[in-house]
Amino acid sequence: MTVRSPTPCPDDPGSILDWQAPGQTRDTRGAPPVFASVFIDNEPRHAVSGEILEVIDPSTERVIAGVGRGAAEDIDAAAMSARAALQGSWGAITPQQRGDMLLTLAAALETHAEQLARLETLDVGKPLDASRDDVVGSVATLRYNAGAADKLEGSSVPLGREFLDFTELEPLGVTAHITPWNFPLGMAARSVAPALAAGCTTIVKPAEQSSFTTLALAELAAGAGFPPGVINVVTGFGEEAGTALVTHPSVDGVTFTGSVETGRKVGAAAGQSIKPVVLELGGKNPMIVFADADMERAVNAALDGAFDNSGQVCSSVSRLLLQHEIKDAFLKAFVARAERLTTTAGRDSGDLGPLVSEDQFNKVTRHIADAIERGGRLLLGGTRPNGCKTGYFMQPTVFRDVDPSSMLASEETFGPVVSAFGFDGEDEAIALANGLPYGLAAGIHTGNIDRALRLARRLEAGTVWINGWFIGGVQAPTGGVKSSGFGRERGLAGINNYLRIKNVGLHIASATDAKA
Ligand code: NAI
Ligand code: MG
Repeated sequence: MTVRSPTPCPDDPGSILDWQAPGQTRDTRGAPPVFASVFIDNEPRHAVSGEILEVIDPSTERVIAGVGRGAAEDIDAAAMSARAALQGSWGAITPQQRGDMLLTLAAALETHAEQLARLETLDVGKPLDASRDDVVGSVATLRYNAGAADKLEGSSVPLGREFLDFTELEPLGVTAHITPWNFPLGMAARSVAPALAAGCTTIVKPAEQSSFTTLALAELAAGAGFPPGVINVVTGFGEEAGTALVTHPSVDGVTFTGSVETGRKVGAAAGQSIKPVVLELGGKNPMIVFADADMERAVNAALDGAFDNSGQVCSSVSRLLLQHEIKDAFLKAFVARAERLTTTAGRDSGDLGPLVSEDQFNKVTRHIADAIERGGRLLLGGTRPNGCKTGYFMQPTVFRDVDPSSMLASEETFGPVVSAFGFDGEDEAIALANGLPYGLAAGIHTGNIDRALRLARRLEAGTVWINGWFIGGVQAPTGGVKSSGFGRERGLAGINNYLRIKNVGLHIASATDAKA
């Protein structure tokens, strides 16, 4: 991401929803527009710095727009706005009204679905159909949390006849949401919707690669009746806007999704200021396939798991653990299917779009080169698609016999690259699966239900899928163990992140005391 300064900002910061983006025509002539970078108090504003980040279309490598380089001063303004809303208009409305507003916002997303999908595709490159699915998922997330807003009940605690003791669930307060670039709208919705249902006010810092749809979400929320200060967005770099957000004294809690490395920093900074934090970090997720599995189902699940969103998913399949007797046959079928996946120039439908950025492309390329250097056998892909000169495209890539010490075998790659390893029996499969510091998702394919349930218990992962992959939606909690983080998002567990328990105890005077 490059920075341009001083900024040729127009006087009036533009609305991203008014932009006639070059979605269909690919016409990028003329100066790229600069958008309202930060969205505070229901108003688009420029960042105080006056500097902008250039937004690059990853399928053409062209600069298509600019968004603000928000920093500490912008975070200050957002925090003030969020605090005022919490103590004022937002704090005064009923839980049912909060739910109604979330439903109105869901409907607004549906009305703008095509526009949102085009913005997303332009920003991060994913095929249009995938962006459309992400809008549908975000709508479902808003509706799920809307329904929960007036059902967040405390409890009554039995302490005997002399006491009445009860708990109330209070909103945590002003919450910070630092989101990644792989599902920009989906991650913003997943993080903000439960916070709003719980009665919090929010500040979102989208990834510097992908600000468009988060800004659009905030604009739509203003239109849907959310009072000023309830959803604020500050765009910018993690080290500037992100750090300022996590450490701001007016922020009561932090939800972060991204890399383990950055998660460590965010966790440490939150710890210093005694803030609760949810960390959803990376994975190196194994899919274990036994010889007794339904092979076609396993191949289908592996294809979807490894190549959906070009492998840029925290829970994607990155290691195939195959029982020795079926390893060759599985790989033959898998490679034959992977070969037929289509790469699309970002704006169209198809299987794989480009990777999000040059940095991400370089990281994936480094992992591939390192695996080859250490003797890994490349079965498919490994380079840009034939004839493709621009855009951060990478072919579906399959390896076998990768050295366990290589980056590809041991670190999160976040690209359309999967490596296959062999195993003999259950114990070896578990040793391989659990042998890394990560623990986000894991899968088992077998026809033996006892084995499936035995292994589900032994796998060190926040999510285990049996005979499928990517099972579940907004209702199912997700999160990691070990270095993949802690805390759960989605489901009712996701709302609990934004509530705190207040215990109220009363002493009940006895009849004799009362008379006295
Ligand atoms: P990142 O973890 O650095 O970025 C995620 C978010 O954190 C962005 O909004 C970023 O601006 C923010 N951030 C960065 N440094 C920060 C700091 N010091 N304080 C507060 N916020 C900060 O990930 P990045 O650099 O975009 O990608 C690197 C790798 O991270 C990828 O190759 C992939 O392996 C992994 N990743 C994992 C994701 C997941 O869903 N688990 C999502 C995105 C990336
Ligand atoms: Mg981008």
